[in-house]
Amino acid sequence: MSLPPGFLDELRSRLSLTDVVGRKVMWDQRKSNPGKGDMWAPCPFHHEKTASFHVNDKDGYYYCFGCHAKGDAITFVRETENVGFMEAIEILAQEAGMPVPKSDPKAQEKSDKRAELAEVNEAANRFFRLCLSQQGGTAARAYLDKRGMKPETRERFEIGFAPSGNALLRALRDQGISTELAVEAGVVAKPDDGREPYDFFRDRIVFPIRDARGRLISFGGRAMDPNARAKYLNGPERLLFDKGNALYNHKEARAACGRGQTLVVAEGYMDVIALAEAGFEATVAPLGTAITDRQLQLMWRMSDEPVIALDGDKAGLRAAYRVIDLAMPLLEAGKGLRFAILPEGQDPDELIKAKGPDAMQEVLDGALPMVALLWRRETEGKVFDSPERRAALDKSLRETIRPITDASIKRHYGEILNDMRRDLFRGKRDDGPRRAWTPNGRGRFGKQVAVPTEGLKASLIVSGDEAQADLMREAVVLAVLIANPGLALEFLSQLEALTPRSEDHALLLHAVLTHAEEEDVGALRENVIAMAGQGALDRLMSHPHVQIAPPVRRPDREVAQMCLTEELAKLKARRGYQAELAEGLEEMLAADDEKLTWRLRQAAEARNRATKAEAEDRTEFDIAENGLELSRDERDAFRALLNRIAPERGK
Ligand code: UTP
Ligand code: MN
Repeated sequence: MSLPPGFLDELRSRLSLTDVVGRKVMWDQRKSNPGKGDMWAPCPFHHEKTASFHVNDKDGYYYCFGCHAKGDAITFVRETENVGFMEAIEILAQEAGMPVPKSDPKAQEKSDKRAELAEVNEAANRFFRLCLSQQGGTAARAYLDKRGMKPETRERFEIGFAPSGNALLRALRDQGISTELAVEAGVVAKPDDGREPYDFFRDRIVFPIRDARGRLISFGGRAMDPNARAKYLNGPERLLFDKGNALYNHKEARAACGRGQTLVVAEGYMDVIALAEAGFEATVAPLGTAITDRQLQLMWRMSDEPVIALDGDKAGLRAAYRVIDLAMPLLEAGKGLRFAILPEGQDPDELIKAKGPDAMQEVLDGALPMVALLWRRETEGKVFDSPERRAALDKSLRETIRPITDASIKRHYGEILNDMRRDLFRGKRDDGPRRAWTPNGRGRFGKQVAVPTEGLKASLIVSGDEAQADLMREAVVLAVLIANPGLALEFLSQLEALTPRSEDHALLLHAVLTHAEEEDVGALRENVIAMAGQGALDRLMSHPHVQIAPPVRRPDREVAQMCLTEELAKLKARRGYQAELAEGLEEMLAADDEKLTWRLRQAAEARNRATKAEAEDRTEFDIAENGLELSRDERDAFRALLNRIAPERGK
């Protein structure tokens, strides 16, 4: 079959090759420059360790300097998914939100039908807007004025007014649009019991709803009469309108996301409009139903981490809690959600009116990661003072994260939740038993919200910082070894136990171990360069931490020994801690018991002791946790003793 002219160009222009390829490869962060759309990865088409696969996002082409594979997004999907041309197009079009023109006559008919219905909606839209501007729209205009909606805003969002009676029905008929078609479009209702068709929206402010491509798919209507049966009425589900798969303001929001704005998800039409007017243009809302999984997918296509803005009331929280369960099975690395909780009793529209865009920005800045909200859901208002209650919490936590399909994300959820429950169960002596989330606590995540999660925040920071710290420790170890030949022999077993955290480090370590017996500085350097490359060595030596390390600046066997002992001990303590944690997590996912909590605590404390002891003044040995108070002499004696039984924990 043939695709309409321009279809493929349009498809290519809407896709990011980096996104398409990114699902199949691990980008080489060092070599890639995402800002320039210049990306490198190990080639998915041939086996290699280095990154010779190049993606040029701007042009939409890839090329492998190793195996010479090349092509565009379509070729890439064909090759990696092993599908034919049309199937690849379908996959990509689905992703880009573009329907593929169908070759079979039925599908073509359907697509023609959609276009026809959208035209009916456009006619209705023109009518509604006319009504708002005319005599009959006086009260509606006054209402919008009262709500502070400026005329420009009404233009921008194409706000209209649906009068009472069957005015639309008549107007459409006058334009030669059949009632039947108007019913199919959803702007006219036809009762099943044979009564006459009537206007679906009556005496309501109407909000046109357009899909991602700008096609007019339905309307939402707000009652003018405060006693109306429903404050908001959304058009009925029809061929054009699938509520669970549409978002209000989709097209504009997607464009704003493209300009780098963060996607905000509000509850209703008026919130979206207020947010967009306040400069938060990347804003959408679901359409009168709870957020669906398909809507989440639409959001993630626009933005990696949409922020769900919730009314700060019970209903808002309940809605957010539902979203958690919906999102769990869909989580992928890099895709997540945040939750911005508004002050009690305010929605974004009201907050912006009352306090301006800055107040809204503050709320968005304080948005909680999903794990924090999950914790709040499971612990709010509860006290865990019995084994039974703790077991119940463990069970519900396990059940919540069980649907996560991405193994790495699941592990991280497990780790963070483990940390939080450990803090919770352990309690703190000084401020009474630690509580779960309490409404009056002081929030660490934002001004309005109270969240318990010091443990969470700490562990979030810790995990990032500590990974970085480990990398630095490794770098120092390697640089010290290169500057002080012969020392590697003394630390051989500890060095062999290292699991380097970067490719450079792996190469350098391998070189150092291979030449452990080399005693000459110059010769060792040459050998390292030969094995690991000049680049790896230069990068190592350029770390500020490395440059200031005394045994690197001025090689000295004894100082170097001390430094290596210390850094390797810290790295080892961290490894042990992480192994415990991983194991602990597995147990938590399978079954749980108090012993585990105890083990995790032990591991954490051992880790803390190891790092703290050496981070602080080296004469200060922190054994306060054992409840011992020692004099300086006693401490030295104790340290000497420790040295004998556990040399790697030495000085
Ligand atoms: P809200 O009740 O929070 O209204 O409904 P709002 O957005 O603050 O509206 P204003 O400020 O009173 O005009 C939020 C959304 O829930 C849906 C609508 O989509 C609305 O925008 N809704 C609400 C309904 O579908 N039906 C209703 O009766 C009420
Ligand atoms: Mn409101």
